[in-house]
Amino acid sequence: MAQKVLLFCDPGIDDSLAIIYALLNPAIQLVGIVTSYGNVNQEQATQNVAYLLELAKRDNVVLIGGAKSPLSGEFTPFYPEIHGEEGLGPIRPPEMIKEELLNFDTVFNLIEEYGPELLIVDVGRMTSLAIAFNLAGPEIMNTVQGFYLMGGAFLVPGNVTAGAEANFYGDPLAAEIVTTKVERGVIYPLNVTNDAIVTPTIIDEIVATENNPFQPLMKAIFDYYYEAYQKLVPGIQGSPLHDVLTLFAITNPQAFKYIEKKVFIGLTEETLRGVSIADFRPRAEEEPEEQTVAIALELDYQEFIADFINVMTNKLPIIE
Ligand code: BDR
Ligand code: CA
Repeated sequence: MAQKVLLFCDPGIDDSLAIIYALLNPAIQLVGIVTSYGNVNQEQATQNVAYLLELAKRDNVVLIGGAKSPLSGEFTPFYPEIHGEEGLGPIRPPEMIKEELLNFDTVFNLIEEYGPELLIVDVGRMTSLAIAFNLAGPEIMNTVQGFYLMGGAFLVPGNVTAGAEANFYGDPLAAEIVTTKVERGVIYPLNVTNDAIVTPTIIDEIVATENNPFQPLMKAIFDYYYEAYQKLVPGIQGSPLHDVLTLFAITNPQAFKYIEKKVFIGLTEETLRGVSIADFRPRAEEEPEEQTVAIALELDYQEFIADFINVMTNKLPIIE
């Protein structure tokens, strides 16, 4: 049976490719998508998701309105130079918001409906998920199967500041609430997502199959994203698909090595904001009462790339 997933996201190019990956993967059943600010504003993120669902002819994935700003209420910058003005690189999605953008309490209805069959995946700023924890409390939230979180950078450079990764930096307090309240939580940080490099040659091979309606879009948004990454990381041969890797982990947990740690997140001062820290000293054993999460630290790249090509060349699955 396909894994039921409630996805929190902020599309964004790698978020969009992650949604496409999920829609093309018969082993994943997206039951809902919560759209929040992050790479673009929340309204634009919603429109982008509606466009992707329309391309897939999927009207059985509910769309839920998430946060428009971090918990602090401050403005955070968007990233048009990486994701494009509208979040889909050079593509402007048609004005076609799906009629029903459901209220946030739909999150709790889905948790009640699916309980331990539901996996929550967050590949954006963690504001909406933190609000869900604050509203419902950990007892209810932790009735789900678990939480996959894309964020952080442990003992490696950040991608927004020297030490911080974009999702944790965008709302560090939310990241702290989520990482300290989740049970069965797994973090996919830059340590592994920076390795999820997809090259233009691979995208060209996928697109040449003409197997599904996403492929022209895939090519356009990937090329934009790759051009941006070439400016960011001199000499890079492709682009890291952070959010796709997090979705890949759902059906391929064996492709990673994990370590259980308590996570701390910097909340103050620009240099520490969103910085993720865990105690990696060899002597450090977690106290049994400490709240830990699993952190993915190593990736089997060959498994990732083979699966990526396989899924992205699928025909659209028929979902009842
Ligand atoms: C994360 O930040 C976002 O901009 C990307 O979509 C991804 O979720 C990578 O740091
Ligand atoms: Ca994202």
